[in-house]
Amino acid sequence: MVKRQFPNPKDLLPLMQFKKPELNAKKRRLDSAHTIYDLRAIAQRRTPKAAFDYTEGAAEAEISLARARQAFEDIEFHPGILRDVSAVDTGWDVLGKRVELPFGIAPTGFTRMMQTEGEIAGASAAAAAGIPFALSTMGTSAIEDVAAAGGATGRNWFQLYMWKDRERSMALVDRAAKAGFDTLLVTVDVPVAGARLRDKRNGFSIPPALTLGTVINAIPRPAWWINFLTTEPLAFASLSRWSGTVAELLDTMFDPTVTYEDLAWIKEQWPGKVVVKGVQTLDDAKRLADLGVDGITLSNHGGRQLDRAPIPFHLLPEVHREVGRDLEVHLDTGIMSGSDIVASVALGARFTMIGRAYLYGLMAGGREGVDKTISILGEQIARTMRLLGVSTLEELNPGHVTQLQRLAPRALPAGAAEAVAAAHKPRPASRQRKTAARPTTKPSAGATTPEARVEADAAGVPHVE
Ligand SMILES: Cc1cc2nc3c(=O)[nH]c(=O)nc-3n(C[C@H](O)[C@H](O)[C@H](O)COP(=O)(O)O)c2cc1C
Repeated sequence: MVKRQFPNPKDLLPLMQFKKPELNAKKRRLDSAHTIYDLRAIAQRRTPKAAFDYTEGAAEAEISLARARQAFEDIEFHPGILRDVSAVDTGWDVLGKRVELPFGIAPTGFTRMMQTEGEIAGASAAAAAGIPFALSTMGTSAIEDVAAAGGATGRNWFQLYMWKDRERSMALVDRAAKAGFDTLLVTVDVPVAGARLRDKRNGFSIPPALTLGTVINAIPRPAWWINFLTTEPLAFASLSRWSGTVAELLDTMFDPTVTYEDLAWIKEQWPGKVVVKGVQTLDDAKRLADLGVDGITLSNHGGRQLDRAPIPFHLLPEVHREVGRDLEVHLDTGIMSGSDIVASVALGARFTMIGRAYLYGLMAGGREGVDKTISILGEQIARTMRLLGVSTLEELNPGHVTQLQRLAPRALPAGAAEAVAAAHKPRPASRQRKTAARPTTKPSAGATTPEARVEADAAGVPHVE
């Protein structure tokens, strides 16, 4: 039988901890976010559908992005116990200079359309946190303004898309060098634009067109529109005006003839570090190591280019093993938490970059929203390190992480790659029947590459388990 008594007001008093109401709406909003997904939900409420979808979306069926995020969710961590982790250091050197956290802000185009503070918010928040900010060729703030936003402590990288008009792209690179940008990120996964179907369906254009649909969509999102219409019109880092879809713009600007020779040429023009972004096979990683670049970014552009591309996080251990002594291996695509970053470092990444995680913060609250993204990820990194029993990034190693893999590749039969290559080779018409391809019996290293598997799939070559 429970014995009851009258509550004594004196005992209740310490339990009543009513907080002073927060009058600043933005602070209230950002304080309620504890994860990047929370920031995403706020961003979605505040941003017109077309601009939000442009950020959130990926190419075709958006499988690349979903798989990349799934791969991070499928991490199993192996913590060490009874270590002194009272102090943790989340920083180290990246490309010769210290970063306070092992991630930076990835280059994104049209950023001021997501939220009017755009790149200036990103560059100033990054500088305050001691991490690099990358400005896109398709950025919506001038190179010099981004340099100024970072102030004396800011570290900026310039992302280059090689244009059909090379003189113009090199003029941009010169401006970036003069403005003190220390690294050139050459993005190589955009010979043509990926199929961003959300943008097509939304009729997304630059600048946004005021159709009946956009006006109706604007009604519950007045802050975005007030900001957009009452601040400086969008000025691009590199072009003055455009009316058409984003994909049409990309197709007009990008040069599908760019090769390794052009990259070597670019490297000679640039006085600082060169990192190649968009590397997706071990073969290309090795070629770039031979070329002498300072770093590579394993990335499938956040799933916005080739759908069903390799998962960068899965490529990481092998690529790091093969070229990690020659250059720095960086990684992006799918990062939504600090523990994704810790796992990447454990498997060999020197550095990681965040695209959407930054943009969700920006859309949720401008500069303060980007600060919030960085602080959420920074706290998650420090906490995960402590829980793993490490106090420095150097102590992280592959023993801390298992990649649980849902989609295991199927092996090809021996000789399949040679057989397909032989069958695809043009031959004189008279010999075609006699030289029908036959698989050789010797196993071939080439047959296990993803390219060989794709070729074999296309030719209907059967797989063995
Ligand atoms: C809205 C948006 C615009 C982007 N624009 C560019 C760009 O102009 N240049 C570039 O190299 N990458 C661009 N990216 C790719 C990012 O740099 C980065 O590779 C990608 O966002 C990483 O994936 P995550 O968004 O899952 O973090 C863009 C990504 C997004 C989401």
